[in-house]
Amino acid sequence: MIENYPHVYIDEIGKYENQDVCLKGWLFNKRSSGKLHFLQVRDGTGFIQAVAFKGDIDPELFTELKHLSQESSLMVYGTVKKDERSPIGFELSIKNVKILNQAEEYPITPKEHGVAFLMDNRHLWLRSKRQHAILRIRAEVIRASRNYFDDRGFILCDTPIFTPSACEGTTNLFEVNYFEDRKAYLTQSGQLYSEATCAALGKVYCFGPTFRAEKSKTRRHLTEFWMIEPEVAYMDLEGDMDLAEDFVVEVVKQVVKNRRPELEVLERDISKLEAIQKPFPRITYDEAIEILNKAGKPVEWGEDFGGDEETVISENFDRPVFIHRYPMQCKAFYMKQDPENAKLALCVDMIGPEGYGELIGGGQREDNMELLISRIEEHNLPMDNFQWYLDVRRYGSVPHAGFGLGIERTVGWICGIHHVRETIPFPRLLDRVTP
Ligand code: 4AD
Ligand code: MG
Repeated sequence: MIENYPHVYIDEIGKYENQDVCLKGWLFNKRSSGKLHFLQVRDGTGFIQAVAFKGDIDPELFTELKHLSQESSLMVYGTVKKDERSPIGFELSIKNVKILNQAEEYPITPKEHGVAFLMDNRHLWLRSKRQHAILRIRAEVIRASRNYFDDRGFILCDTPIFTPSACEGTTNLFEVNYFEDRKAYLTQSGQLYSEATCAALGKVYCFGPTFRAEKSKTRRHLTEFWMIEPEVAYMDLEGDMDLAEDFVVEVVKQVVKNRRPELEVLERDISKLEAIQKPFPRITYDEAIEILNKAGKPVEWGEDFGGDEETVISENFDRPVFIHRYPMQCKAFYMKQDPENAKLALCVDMIGPEGYGELIGGGQREDNMELLISRIEEHNLPMDNFQWYLDVRRYGSVPHAGFGLGIERTVGWICGIHHVRETIPFPRLLDRVTP
């Protein structure tokens, strides 16, 4: 009885050689030649070729399959056969097909489409092989990131999305009405709250969506992106870099180990990922300025680096590079002043290789109450809103540090793709909040 064939997922098909199974999925593509239909079927876990031979199936069904449209939903019953030519090593020899829904004419065909069109159809574009591979790698990056911290005694401590004030700077906040008479802002980073939770729990991390209203239209900027942020009490800048390095090496290692077929779909040069080993070079801001000067891209001391500068710097290294001790003036208010040079902050950025730009921003936090108060004043931030934050200094202040890694930039780098818009299921960009 065909109804009794077990439902099997394509990524496990290898366990069912020569057995009868049922696949539940969608028609990805097809071609026909007289007596044969070759159906490319996908079920979310993978793609497989299912072959219908005229002599094997009901003649009416054979005709129906000829007219089956792309992305029709179907259940395919058949026998799993080993096949050397198949990318997954197996194909299905069809015995019967149940068509659930004959799809309307599908807008995304195997031919080339423009980016704007694909972005308008993002909800359907997700079904393509390339997007399928990217999203599985994204899930792996997130899984590996969570495991990294969970396995090392970090406590996940979620931080709020509605916040009363800025963390990274006031110019790029999304304001929302918080009931009748109050304003709130969508968070730019969980860091300030993680500083409080790390004073309670020692080693913490938060992981959630963050929002930036900056008017940047680049291949590295989203207005909504996901960030994983560890924060550790009694950790200094060196410890912060050690942690960031170990973490990134482990995440890349897990992706290479568990998502090799997906990296191959993306034609990623895997040797470049295998080269991601400790130690990562650590250079100062001043040394980075020298590199830029030599490359004919001078930057005035005191300016932050943009994407172009980061690309030039990254070209000198085959793995991520740390740039530490930026000028205080170009960084956020909470950065700890370098006790050896008051002009510098004990902060660090990790710049990805191959021009992927800043993957991580972080550093040691100002733990001196007086200095922190003067920074809040200098940055014209509302002192009232920061009283709770100052309490972390009032009551048992300790050196502490942390960082934030942007998931989408990291996925973009690991996948070797050009633009972050493909690294998140539904990207939010300067000019796009749909679908
Ligand atoms: O350097 P950022 O702004 O650092 C912070 O928010 C710190 N409070 C984090 C911390 O120390 N806990 O952002 C950190 C990372 C960047 O390195 C980048 O990977 C990513 O977040 N990021 C963005 N990703 C996509 N689109 C944007 N607009 C991004 N802005 C930052
Ligand atoms: Mg930054």
